[in-house]
Amino acid sequence: MARNLFKSRIGLIAATVGSAIGLGNVWRFPAETQANGGAAFLLLYIVCVLVLGIPVMLAEFSLGRGGRSDVIGVFRRLAPRTPWWLTGVAAVLASYLIISFYMVVAGWTLEYLWESLTGGLYQGLAEGTDTMRQHFAARMEEYICTDSRPLLFTMAMILINIGVLAAGVQKGIERLSNVMMPMLFVILLVLLAVSLSLPHAADGVVFFLAPDFSSITPAVVVSALGQALFSLSLGAGTIVTYASYYPDSTKLGRTSVIVASLSVLVAVLMGLIIFPAVTSFGITDASFGGSTLVFVTLPEVFANMPATGLWSSLFFLLLLVAALTSTVSIAEVPVAMLRDRLGMRRLPAVLAVMLPLLVLSTLCSLSFGSLADAKILGMTVFELFDATTTNVLMPAVALAECLFLGWFAPRHLLNAQLTNDGTLRAAYAPAVAAATRYLAPVLIIAIATANYL
Ligand code: PFF
Repeated sequence: MARNLFKSRIGLIAATVGSAIGLGNVWRFPAETQANGGAAFLLLYIVCVLVLGIPVMLAEFSLGRGGRSDVIGVFRRLAPRTPWWLTGVAAVLASYLIISFYMVVAGWTLEYLWESLTGGLYQGLAEGTDTMRQHFAARMEEYICTDSRPLLFTMAMILINIGVLAAGVQKGIERLSNVMMPMLFVILLVLLAVSLSLPHAADGVVFFLAPDFSSITPAVVVSALGQALFSLSLGAGTIVTYASYYPDSTKLGRTSVIVASLSVLVAVLMGLIIFPAVTSFGITDASFGGSTLVFVTLPEVFANMPATGLWSSLFFLLLLVAALTSTVSIAEVPVAMLRDRLGMRRLPAVLAVMLPLLVLSTLCSLSFGSLADAKILGMTVFELFDATTTNVLMPAVALAECLFLGWFAPRHLLNAQLTNDGTLRAAYAPAVAAATRYLAPVLIIAIATANYL
């Protein structure tokens, strides 16, 4: 079956950047930063992106474009009759667990956008900080922690994803990204200007940019590594799958730098939007950290601003756009697998991937409702899926990919991919080879084991 490649350079960059920039940058990152010592976490995250993220991304690009198949197929092609294809199986599993819980949070963003547009989120709001806080906490209870409401929006997101994925790589994913990515940056800049012009914004900037190194523990380092992999969509087959749709002329080195820098940039801009806004209104109550930052604290900030509905709608639209270009990229991993392994046509493959989500995402959604007390290993289904992927599967897959490329794959593979078969100069290629052979594996193993010492 001839592979349908991305049509334009801009399109493939928009799609890959769209995959990387997602709830990981705009929802997970601020929450992790707040929980793990502000700028110290930011710094660790940037270091992880530079020394691990970029080499692993180049490894995934090389595997995908060199193998021109789904994430299991590339190993079958590049190393036939060896067990390396199991790395691909682990990646597909990771992608499936991620999409199950990610779809639920994506559903919340749709719900909050809807409630911002209709004004429901702010209806019946009384003056006074305490009552405001209670108001938004109660709204979050109603929107996220009940059974049926969030499910409805999760289902709506599943439907939207089916629509985009069924249209294919060029007409669905690429077209969506070409529209959504510029939109995301425009909204981000508007919100940044608004946030930085609030009174006392500087205090928030200081919190975000002044590091407290005493808060760095092995667990924080693991979180930064997990965050770097998650936010660059690495270790779950997405980048391998997307790169299998890259034309031969794509410059992989340049693409990796663009994707990684834009992803870090968006995370930093998000911090510069959120923390000044929060400190400006004196909302620093620690119990409102974590994921409530975006769904409780920020609405409280918007309620204190003029044009509440406008800023609130823009913000949740930003979250939705970020989420959607990522959900399609995660789901494309099992879709490509079914198409390449079983020869399925696109629509049946999309449905075969999406329909079981009706059950799995429901379990994740109910983790905040009636299944909140149903714990496995002390975690709800949602937390279990999140922790197994970010802390275990993604680092393990990234490690296996580096070991494969560094030690077992045909020796010329990485070089041929980085130089486009010798037609480009890539002075950095030996450094990437060394990073995938030694540095990345050693760091991933060291960080992962440090957590258990
Ligand atoms: N990078 C996405 C984000 O930051 O939200 C999430 C993601 C996409 C993770 C694709 C993994 C993946 F394969």
